[in-house]
Amino acid sequence: MIDLPVVQTPQNGEQTAVDAEITTATGGRTLYVETYGCQMNLNDSEIVQSIMNKSGYAIVDGPDDADVILLNTCAIRDNAERRIHERLKHLRYYKKRKNDLVVGVLGCMAERLRTRLLENEKLVDLVIGPDEYRKTPELVDSAFSGEKGLAVKLSRVETYDDITPLRTEGISAWVSIMRGCDKFCTFCVVPWTRGRERSRSLDGIVTETRHLWDSGFREMTLLGQNVNSYRDEDKDADFSDLLAACAEAAPQMRIRYTTSHPYDMSDKLIETMAAYDNICKYIHLPVQSGSDRVLQLMNRKYTVEHYLERMQAIKKAMPHCALSTDIICGFPTETEEDHQMTMELMAQVRYDGAFMFKYSPRERTRAWKMGDDIPDDVKTRRLNEVIEQQQNISREINQAAIGTTERVLVEGPSKRNAAEWQGRTDSNKVVIFPHNEHSGYIVGDTIEVAVERSTSATLFGQIINS
Ligand code: SAH
Ligand code: SF4
Ligand code: F3S
Repeated sequence: MIDLPVVQTPQNGEQTAVDAEITTATGGRTLYVETYGCQMNLNDSEIVQSIMNKSGYAIVDGPDDADVILLNTCAIRDNAERRIHERLKHLRYYKKRKNDLVVGVLGCMAERLRTRLLENEKLVDLVIGPDEYRKTPELVDSAFSGEKGLAVKLSRVETYDDITPLRTEGISAWVSIMRGCDKFCTFCVVPWTRGRERSRSLDGIVTETRHLWDSGFREMTLLGQNVNSYRDEDKDADFSDLLAACAEAAPQMRIRYTTSHPYDMSDKLIETMAAYDNICKYIHLPVQSGSDRVLQLMNRKYTVEHYLERMQAIKKAMPHCALSTDIICGFPTETEEDHQMTMELMAQVRYDGAFMFKYSPRERTRAWKMGDDIPDDVKTRRLNEVIEQQQNISREINQAAIGTTERVLVEGPSKRNAAEWQGRTDSNKVVIFPHNEHSGYIVGDTIEVAVERSTSATLFGQIINS
């Protein structure tokens, strides 16, 4: 079952790009950050590591050697939070072994639960929300002298624009261009955990783009809960202008973005994507439901008709553009008929991929007050139906790729087999291909792969040049 929003794990291939000087202070204290949730959290963890590294903490990649363990958490669904409570139980073992270990909770769950976390999880020394990461060093210092810390104020201006995230591996970078969300979809906790929408400066992002290219990164993903709302008032620039500016700043860099909202997927954005070869032809456009009645209850602000019209505009401008979506099963009052409409919409669009979830009620949201009337077994059955249909569609789409040649950005060793490496197509599909010392390519190269075999999730092939 697909449960969390997509989290691409940082590539574990050769280390080709190091974005910032890392202090490896001997005798100094060490920090381990564990990240849950969406890509924005991954980027935030890099920001926290950068802040802590400047304060003299060496970054370690496991809890065993750490003096400070920070969990950067997600609150999007109940099971995301349950995972963190479980993880905190495990961390008791580390605390027993090391009396002065500092354990902190960052991110959306920290923002949502605040003092409740400190009260209910005795092990936790500090709780820091997404807009207060600059305070991490002083709060950790106080925690070492036995003081519990809480910093959960949301900000209308904080964007960490001046902080270079500490990226230590891989060739693919996450770049948050804005924070917060003002859309208030009725099921969603994000406006409460991340606060109001605010954007970084266009110049700051363009400078970061050049810097990333110069330090060896070959792909970047511009991140925001709703990137269409990006604005640089001083420059009178919108998201399309930013995308074009990044594409021009690093013409060989693969540029992706996520997430755009169907309500304001503009013609200008579609035209901009079509105009630049280095903007990947892949759009994640979450529809959530195929029923207008449910969409209205969700406060999504578009109809199925509008959504399909946008899809047509995308396909007209970019016939080979890959598409993916998010679906929620069992939103309050969802009938079998509503569910069938979702199935039909998905069959009609034929997404390359989808992230599918059971509805999970979140305190404070408007949907919380609508109750949770769809029984769990019905939600599960509907979820299984959408997953099964989507897997069949993805399998068929990937089968049609057999015999084609794909341009693949090499990421590194595949997770399953050391004799194979993996990379990604422009359309965000994972491709597996053979590797040995004579292969002649390295991480970050773009190679051509003839696709010979596929599953619903992956393409497999042979390299035809490098
Ligand atoms: N900003 C993005 C989505 C962020 S959350 C957007 O608007 O598309 C990622 C996905 O989690 C959402 O698209 C939605 O499908 C799912 N989600 C959010 N809240 C949820 C909830 N309460 N229960 C189940 N799924 C939820
Ligand atoms: Fe949540 Fe809606 Fe904002 Fe996405 S656009 S983060 S689903 S409120
Ligand atoms: Fe989760 Fe917060 Fe991201 S709730 S999905 S970590 S914005």
